[in-house]
Amino acid sequence: MERGGLVDLQPTPARILADVVQGLSATPKRLPSKYFYDARGSALFERITRQPEYYLTATELALLQARMADIAAAIGAGAHVVEYGSGSGRKTELLLGGLDAPVAYTPVEISRSALEHSVARLGALFPEIEMLPVCADFTGPFALPVPARAPARTLLFFPGSTLGNFDGPQSVALLRGMRDAAGADGRALIGLDLDKDPRRLEAAYNDAAGVTAEFTLNLLARLNREIGSDFDLGGFAHRAVYARERMRIETDLVSLRAQTVRVGGRTFAFAPGEAMAVEISQKYTRDSAAALAAQAGLALRAWWTDPQGDFALALLAPA
Ligand code: AVJ
Repeated sequence: MERGGLVDLQPTPARILADVVQGLSATPKRLPSKYFYDARGSALFERITRQPEYYLTATELALLQARMADIAAAIGAGAHVVEYGSGSGRKTELLLGGLDAPVAYTPVEISRSALEHSVARLGALFPEIEMLPVCADFTGPFALPVPARAPARTLLFFPGSTLGNFDGPQSVALLRGMRDAAGADGRALIGLDLDKDPRRLEAAYNDAAGVTAEFTLNLLARLNREIGSDFDLGGFAHRAVYARERMRIETDLVSLRAQTVRVGGRTFAFAPGEAMAVEISQKYTRDSAAALAAQAGLALRAWWTDPQGDFALALLAPA
C-alpha cells in the first residue's frame, strides 16, 4: 500500500489480535515486544535513552562518532543505506553525514509516526540523499525500494542492540534476511550491547525514574485501545532481571493478583505472581556475535567497541 510516497505495511488490528491470542495461549504467557512502539511507546523509548542508567544509546553514539572514518572507508562511496527500525534517527544522522556520498536511505520502521518524523528531519538535512521510507514490521516480508541512482552497495544498519530483542533462531533468520537483502557485495553494521556487570545491566532496565516500567506497561494500554482487550494496568508490574546463564535481560509483566483478561472474545486467567514474558535483551561477546553471524552465513569484517568495552559495532559481510 502506498500513500504519500510512504510504503505502508503497518500491522493491522487483526494481525495484532492474532499475535496476542497466540502469546497468551502459550505457557508461559508472552506478548510480542515489537508492539511496544506505538506513538507513545516510541516517545517513551526516546525518554529511556536519556535516562542516566541506560548507557546504551550514548555509548553507541560516541562509538559511531569515534569510528566513523573507519566505517566510511570500509563501506566506500555511493551506498544505499537500509535501516531496520529507524527510531529517532540520531545515529542515522551521524552515519549518513559520515559516509562517502550515500545515494539513498531506506528506513524500515513499524511506527508510522516515528518514521514520518525521522524522514522529514533527515530529508531536510540531506537533500542529496533519496529518502525511501517503508512502514513495515522488518521481521516480515517486504520489498526493498530501488533507488533512482544505482548504489555501489547496500549497507544494512541495525543499531541499538535491537537484534537482542530476538531469540536465537529469530536472530539468525533476521541476519540471513539482511544478508539476502544486501546481496553478495552487501554489508551489515550492527550495534550490540555487550555482557557486563549484571548490576549495571539491571539498572539500565530498571531506571530510577520509572520510565522503563511505564514503557513496558504502555504495551497493555496500546492493546486495550487497538484490539479492545481489558488489561488492568494497575494489575501488572514491570520486572527486568539479568539471566546470566542466557546472557540476557528478561523483562516480564507480573500479575499482582489472580485476575482474568478478555481478548477477542476469549478469557485468559492469570495466577498471582504469574509472569508474562514481554521482552528479551540479549547481550553479546565478540565470540557469541561471530558464532551467531556464522549461522546466518555472515562473517565479522570489523569489531569496534568503546574504550570501556560496553558496546560494540560489528561490520558483517557474506562469509
Ligand atoms: C529496542 C533494543 C533498543 O532492549 O535495550 C529499552 C528496548 N527495552 N529498555 C533494549 C528497551 C527496555 C531496547 N532496544
